[in-house]
Amino acid sequence: WGTLGHQSIALLAQQYLLPGTIESVQTLLNDTTTTYLGNIALWADSFRYTPEGSFSGGYHFVNGHDAPPPESCEIIYPEDCPPEGCVIKAIGNYTERLKDHTLPVDQRQQALKFVVHFIGDISQPLHTEAFGAGANNLTVWFQGYKTNLHAAWDTAIPNAMIGFPPNAKIGNGDSLGWANNLAAAINAGKYKKLVWAWLKDHSLRNLKEEEKAATVWAQESNEEVCDYAMVKGGNAYNGTEIGGAYYEGAKPIVEVSIAKAGIRLAAWLNLIFEGQTGFE
Ligand code: ADE
Ligand code: ZN
Ligand code: ZN
Repeated sequence: WGTLGHQSIALLAQQYLLPGTIESVQTLLNDTTTTYLGNIALWADSFRYTPEGSFSGGYHFVNGHDAPPPESCEIIYPEDCPPEGCVIKAIGNYTERLKDHTLPVDQRQQALKFVVHFIGDISQPLHTEAFGAGANNLTVWFQGYKTNLHAAWDTAIPNAMIGFPPNAKIGNGDSLGWANNLAAAINAGKYKKLVWAWLKDHSLRNLKEEEKAATVWAQESNEEVCDYAMVKGGNAYNGTEIGGAYYEGAKPIVEVSIAKAGIRLAAWLNLIFEGQTGFE
């Protein structure tokens, strides 16, 4: 996701954190502003492009089998995770580091920033697809704006959903509007049965169980690639305009993905810091 997606997921999660979680997270981040998780949600995307952070570039996605949908509609872990890592392994690793109180505070702070970002990335369908490097190589047009299919899902589609152009500069204020709307819908029961389903794989017992949960999340995202994002096969979208009917069909998928990631992130952090999801 781009700025809007990552910030909205983080700001939505903030609304479901338990008081003890808020206290621990704000202390670890040394930030008591009202947007403490939104403020760090994008950090991993700038870090990956620094010399010290280049090791983490592969941690933002998991590439399934390198065939276009429908052949590639599954994630097999650890087979689909290369030696340089993937988002499933990264979520497990940084969750373990965040739980480890023998580590220096700056290391645990970094682990928290990674977890917040990667629980966002794993919910973006094309972050679980190998074809065309997650569709980064497929040129598309979005309402006349030239982009690629991956970037459209990251940014142009979410931006359009809140009435902004693809290249708009987004801030926490914009993202908070979307997060508040999603929270209101969730609190009004819009995703009532789904919230339970979203959390049923949450387990922090050990690294293996954490990776197992993240594999389920990646699998769900990958199913959206096969059901919708690339349902016509890998190359069918190359050079096409996707700002019309395709956009209309993508909207509900993006909304559920953002809502789900926000709820999952909140429950994950509550489990880490308070031993309960907060949704019991
Ligand atoms: N680079 C290669 N594959 C990718 C993917 N699935 N998502 C984002 N970046 C990628
Ligand atoms: Zn992306
Ligand atoms: Zn990322």
